Amino acid sequence: MGCVRSEKDSDYYKVVDDAINSYAWAAVVKLQERRVITDVLGPIGQGKEAKIILARGADGRYAVLKIFYPVPVRFKRRSPYILGDPRFRNLKISDQLHLVEVWCRKEFGNLSRAYEAGVRVPRPLGFYRNVLAMEFIGVDRNPAPLLAEVGLENIEDPYGLFYDILKNLEKTYVLAGLVHGDLSPFNILYDGQNPWIIDWGSAVRRGHPKEFEYLRRDVERVLEFFGYPLDAEALFKKLVERGAWRGRVEVDEEGWLLIGGKRIID
Ligand SMILES: Nc1ncnc2c1ncn2[C@@H]1O[C@H](COP(=O)(O)OP(=O)(O)OP(=O)(O)O)[C@@H](O)[C@H]1O
Ligand SMILES: [Mg+2]
Repeated sequence: MGCVRSEKDSDYYKVVDDAINSYAWAAVVKLQERRVITDVLGPIGQGKEAKIILARGADGRYAVLKIFYPVPVRFKRRSPYILGDPRFRNLKISDQLHLVEVWCRKEFGNLSRAYEAGVRVPRPLGFYRNVLAMEFIGVDRNPAPLLAEVGLENIEDPYGLFYDILKNLEKTYVLAGLVHGDLSPFNILYDGQNPWIIDWGSAVRRGHPKEFEYLRRDVERVLEFFGYPLDAEALFKKLVERGAWRGRVEVDEEGWLLIGGKRIID
């Protein structure tokens, strides 16, 4: 297949799409065989790189499948930012699929790590190839809205919610040893009571070269949404300092981490 595609483009993309869909479908069937899920109920959302499908988990409760699609194939013609990246241009479809599988595995690993550390995230259920299964966050069949969709003005107790997100941010960094890397009101679901942090594909382990850049940005975006209840740089520094603590870390009755006996804020 050459680089120049013309009148046959739509046919080409249709064939590619069909191939990818049947590939993803086979992975969904695999998750059923493994009893991670029992039924597939229907699509409920669409991200930039993934489709979100409602399913029934083995425990009888709703689950979601996040199906990662190779963006470069599907949006190649529309997205100059991907088109312009020579690394994608020359990749075969099988390589592109391999890339999203690596991404899916990475998101599952990060999600599991955060979950184990007690961060409020959807419970990871399993994954196969480019399909990730996790707990569904929502009521009936309706997914909880994004914090960005809810808007600050509609939150009854913005301080309470901010503190709750801060607790989760600190647990992510100190206990899970991760930086989310794409934390923002667009990746936090709010069920009216609790925030749920989603979309862990870009998270990095502490020690990663981008650790501080990402942490600073995550902190900044959360503070921005809440109208800067704290100074961003001061909070960033506190997190880094607390992350370097080598002694015992305890959790108090309100869920705050106690490091050297102290909360991150007094
Ligand atoms: N566990 C879940 N429960 C309910 N809804 C979910 C869940 N996970 C994802 N969603 C919904 O699907 C959307 C896309 O999910 P996610 O952010 O993980 O995908 P993405 O493709 O990486 O998104 P983006 O557009 O940010 O790149 C979310 O905004 C949310 O509305
Ligand atoms: Mg997202």
